[in-house]
Amino acid sequence: MKHLLSINDLSKAESIAILDTAQELARVSDGPMKKLPTLRGRTIVNLFAEDSTRTRISFEAAAKRLSADVINFSAKGSSISKGESLKDTAQTLQAMGADAVIIRHGASGAAQRLADSKWMSGAVINAGDGTHEHPSQALLDAFTIRKHLAKSGEDLTGIKVVIVGDVLHSRVARSNVLLLAKLGADVTLVAPPTLLPVGVESWPCKISYDFDDALVGADAVMMLRIQLERMSEMFFPNAREYSRYFGLNGDRVKSLKPTALVMHPGPMNRGLEITADAADGARSVIVEQVSNGVSVRMAILYMLLAGAPEGEIIGINREVGAL
Ligand code: NCD
Repeated sequence: MKHLLSINDLSKAESIAILDTAQELARVSDGPMKKLPTLRGRTIVNLFAEDSTRTRISFEAAAKRLSADVINFSAKGSSISKGESLKDTAQTLQAMGADAVIIRHGASGAAQRLADSKWMSGAVINAGDGTHEHPSQALLDAFTIRKHLAKSGEDLTGIKVVIVGDVLHSRVARSNVLLLAKLGADVTLVAPPTLLPVGVESWPCKISYDFDDALVGADAVMMLRIQLERMSEMFFPNAREYSRYFGLNGDRVKSLKPTALVMHPGPMNRGLEITADAADGARSVIVEQVSNGVSVRMAILYMLLAGAPEGEIIGINREVGAL
């Protein structure tokens, strides 16, 4: 595999191999050295044409922990904000010898466009394209669920995940449904009908309009941000009503199983899709999702750049073991 553009690029075995590798690599992040020499001499560009905190910093930390050189390139402060095209930007990166580009872009399909082009020869990793996909987020979410609720090397068969909120504008939702279903989880999307995309019936999940009903027996509840920046019209009558029907609050958390996880990819609209007590409570793994993101992104970079044969990226055991 050369690029990571969509969860559809990964087989089930490759997805599990990434999670297993990330688990080994977490030992690097937790250890005193925090660095492996694997990608020494390689150049990785973070090309962010949309705002990001966690994803950009986490890819940067991941690349640095594998000893790559990292160039951060965001739309604000670069020639993209002067109207430079993706093609000219990509050719500039090629001229600088980028081995991989991690791209976030407002246009769905931008990462695919870059990968299909002859503008640059390196690996392309999709860090979020419009409302389409965000595969590394789905992998870190699956990693977090597996860490708490399943065993290493295993899939997520029988684990019930409820994903709630603005599915229409969320790339996280699509990637998560595809990956969690691939791993055998039982996924339910909960949203008002206005926040579900056309064609959602064909996704490998159930759909519910009743949050409390969907929460019965849930192992993990993943809240989605209401993406106000992508909304040009009103999709729900008012914020208070949205929170009442689709927000996660302390009472809903209390109704969960004792082992259930509360998740959110961040950034959160506290008080809208999630209350502070739910976000900061004992069941919340929201901060842990961020730290798991570094190990998972290390595993992705390792798989794409360290030249490991497909489906066999466990060679990292040897490197980590040698620490
Ligand atoms: C998500 C994104 O950018 O798609 N955030 C993230 O990557 N951590 C979700 C969001 O912005 O709501």
